[in-house]
Amino acid sequence: HHDPEDALAGLLVEPADGTGVSHHLRDDGELWQMREYIAHRSLYQLKEADPHVWVIPRLRGRAKAAMAAVEYDEFGAGRGERVHAELFADLMVDLALDPTYNHYLDATSARMLAVVNMMSLLGLRRSLRGALVGHFATVEITSSPASDRLAQALRRMGAGEAAVFFYTEHVEADAVHEQVVRHEVIGDLLKREPALAADVAFGIDATVFLEDRFAEEVLGAWRDGRSSLRVPL
Ligand SMILES: [Fe+2]
Ligand SMILES: [Fe+2]
Repeated sequence: HHDPEDALAGLLVEPADGTGVSHHLRDDGELWQMREYIAHRSLYQLKEADPHVWVIPRLRGRAKAAMAAVEYDEFGAGRGERVHAELFADLMVDLALDPTYNHYLDATSARMLAVVNMMSLLGLRRSLRGALVGHFATVEITSSPASDRLAQALRRMGAGEAAVFFYTEHVEADAVHEQVVRHEVIGDLLKREPALAADVAFGIDATVFLEDRFAEEVLGAWRDGRSSLRVPL
């Protein structure tokens, strides 16, 4: 896509067939599959929002203020126990997983690491600030409906309240974050720097591409009755 609006439009249409990992986990997933998924995700979620905060010094005015406001929520809005990375650690403990940072580094797949590395790359380079913002918008827009499915999956599997809470918290928070990122962060950035439109679209498309590739691998392994991890739990 060349236009961020076109790239975002694809995200706003939930696929009717519902073939994502969260659809599978909600409808037919088993607890071992949920634990594998959480182990993969832990590579990012235990440092949730950290790679995104690097973009703040590279934004100005309204875009900067809005990005900082969303990150304030991600970092617990002043409450240590509500930092999203901490909520994810609580979820891991509830599922009897190890919440040590990078504990599952050797177990996860290269496709998950590509997602994590993309965030760091985009966050660390001023020249890629447009792509970082596009990437972040994609995360926020797709999070709310997927979090709802994952909360349902965890409830069905009998997980504890701490596990469910990470996702129920994201259903509401990210519905708001989506609007703020779309209208305030992207909107204001492109008003100031219209030449970044193609970069924003690239960040959206790259995120969708890498996430789809990861989902395909995980679902493929499960379809064959195999572990999706290189080192099974
Ligand atoms: Fe979050
Ligand atoms: Fe968020």
